Amino acid sequence: RHHGPLRGRHVVVTAGGTREPIDPVRYLGNRSSGQMGYALAERARDLGATVTLISGPTALTPPRAVTCVAVETALEMRAAVQTACAHADILIMNAAVADFRPAQMAAEKIKKHGDEGMTLQLVQNPDVVGELAHRTDIFKVGFAAETHDLLANARSKLQRKGLNLIVANDAIASIGQPEIALTVLDGEQAVELPRQLKAEAAATLLDLIVARFEQWLLT
Ligand code: C5P
Repeated sequence: RHHGPLRGRHVVVTAGGTREPIDPVRYLGNRSSGQMGYALAERARDLGATVTLISGPTALTPPRAVTCVAVETALEMRAAVQTACAHADILIMNAAVADFRPAQMAAEKIKKHGDEGMTLQLVQNPDVVGELAHRTDIFKVGFAAETHDLLANARSKLQRKGLNLIVANDAIASIGQPEIALTVLDGEQAVELPRQLKAEAAATLLDLIVARFEQWLLT
């Protein structure tokens, strides 16, 4: 850990999905397992970085020698990312942050009334990485899991959120699967990482992030 290309660097990684409370016992969630984010955090540590891993609830064991911050909601994720990014060199925003949350959390467990349906009102969550667009001192990597128009959607997120790199993947082909194919995009080029085990994909991806980070430092 005292050697490696990321020695002396602080890398912040977010992982897993957020949970948005509906009432004391229910939440809105998503299928993110956290595997990719945890593997990226471990790899960054092995390359010499000081790593902060900000994670939604997962079934994974926190990696050794990494500062772990446990969060549940998008608003908690935002606060933790802002704190960790006070001093950060690289932000890898891998978490599946909920775009919406219930407008209010019911204080008591919601009951059903007869055979009526029910409507849940949602409000938008802040865009955690998008809000850091002014932090041009941090090398920022986002993810785009899409079900259609993969590259076009990823490119527009790269621009809109002010990212240095975006990692695109087909949400349906990779969700809950052991393997993943990735396309890494910046303003100009697209690099394809062929389908491989997620831990291997994470290692290859982090090497590519480090190479781009080093180029970016020179600009
Ligand atoms: O817009 P979409 O959710 O597909 O964007 C994905 C990227 O933006 C991911 O890097 C994700 O972590 C980040 N994101 C965020 N805050 C949100 C939603 C997504 O930082 N509220």
